Amino acid sequence: MNIFIDSANLDEIKKAADIGILDGVTTNPSLILKEGKDYKKTLKEICSIVKGPVSAETISLNTEGMVKEGKEFAKIAKNIVIKVPMTSNGMKACRLLTKSGIKVNTTLVFSANQALLAAKAGSYLVSPFIGRLDDIGEKGTELVKEIRQIYDNYGFKSLILAASIRSTEHVREVAMIGADIATMPFNVYKQLFNHALTDKGIKMFLDDWDKLQKGLRRR
Ligand code: E4P
Repeated sequence: MNIFIDSANLDEIKKAADIGILDGVTTNPSLILKEGKDYKKTLKEICSIVKGPVSAETISLNTEGMVKEGKEFAKIAKNIVIKVPMTSNGMKACRLLTKSGIKVNTTLVFSANQALLAAKAGSYLVSPFIGRLDDIGEKGTELVKEIRQIYDNYGFKSLILAASIRSTEHVREVAMIGADIATMPFNVYKQLFNHALTDKGIKMFLDDWDKLQKGLRRR
């Protein structure tokens, strides 16, 4: 499973890229607003750090506007993927952008039928938002399971990008289900590396190493 960071914070993105386990980035207007920087400039900077797909969200609600914005954003860098919302206008824009060679991430997917349509429209990435479904009392990971089955049933090539991830448990679950990608906030990414027994084990080995050195010195 590929791992993306859901962030527009350059420090976070640089840290993950430096570790070397970072396959791409997703952004949205809210994340870029949080950084208080220019929209396109931020996307360009992210693309200079990350080689993998970087999702840039369109703002227009009509097809023409989405296509126009998508074509502009696609000029920022080769690895830009255009995010369009899961609406009929969005799906029309998806078809047009895909036809012109621009990859599309269909975002705000909350049902299996929406994911089916997004695949039929030629989406490169399809983003079910699992945390937001959990927020309204549904089970977001169930949706990922359903989409996996539908895409496998019919051999759709769209990649399932599990989005709106809130915990390491979400990451584990979507990996077990077979999501192609999980995009997560940096705090969840960092937690993936941790386990209490790893820390305990390191401490034990270091303590024994110290004892060993003292013992060796006594000889
Ligand atoms: C993904 O592309 C979205 O930017 C993101 O995962 C939304 O997450 P949220 O529900 O935590 O805002």
